[in-house]
Amino acid sequence: MRIVVLTGAGISAESGVPTFRDADGLWEGHRVEDVATPEAFAWQPELVHAFYDLRRAALATVEPNPAHRALAGLEERLGDDLTLVTQNIDDLHERAGSRRVLHMHGEILKARCARCEAVLDWRGDLSTAERCGACGGGLRPHVVWFGEMPFYMEEEIPRALEAEVFAAIGTSGLVYPAAGFAAQAKAGGALTVEINLEPTPSFRIFDVVLIGKASEKVPELARAVGGEVI
Ligand code: OAD
Repeated sequence: MRIVVLTGAGISAESGVPTFRDADGLWEGHRVEDVATPEAFAWQPELVHAFYDLRRAALATVEPNPAHRALAGLEERLGDDLTLVTQNIDDLHERAGSRRVLHMHGEILKARCARCEAVLDWRGDLSTAERCGACGGGLRPHVVWFGEMPFYMEEEIPRALEAEVFAAIGTSGLVYPAAGFAAQAKAGGALTVEINLEPTPSFRIFDVVLIGKASEKVPELARAVGGEVI
């Protein structure tokens, strides 16, 4: 049985990573939509770098939680039959042991050259003074900003959405294209599952809605999908 899992900020919330809607979408008085954009980076690159520097540094203080670990265990059992897509830019899925993670909104621990597009691991602060070692171009966070096309949308994600089971975990389902994945999977005949603290606006699309904390519900789902009696 092929399963595709989409995670959002809610799966990392219990690890201590703030979600977007919890903070009312604000950071230091700035609307995230005003900072995480190509226009903001062109106009005030150091403000945008500061926004991501803080989030990058905060990652060193948090750990994966049982939800991340349950998905890593499911990958061990299902192998290629599991596709994990995340909207999150943190590395908690990887630190929990997941080896194949499609970061459709990019990764905060990577930087990208604005000129040659080279992608580098990057754990420290980033500034306009940093240059690409290959071509000398400027570096930007390797994350998807508003108005930019998410990654893996050409091939990997459409193929993954042909799975028999689609599970959305800890996402408000407000930001497209990810917000459209459940309906797309359902149209292909998938059983759709949502795990969230509360029903999301699109909860009616889902066949199964598990209300509760990801750290409790995801291990239950993983055991059930992995063939265990729960
Ligand atoms: P949101 O902050 O929009 O939604 C987080 C969801 O997780 C909400 O529905 C919460 O109810 C739920 N939640 C919070 N704590 C939870 C817990 N312990 N267990 C289960 N669910 C919990 O975050 P996303 O949906 O990930 O895009 O946001 C999607 C995108 O919007 C982000 O990737 C980002 C943002 O703008 C870009 O940066 C391009």
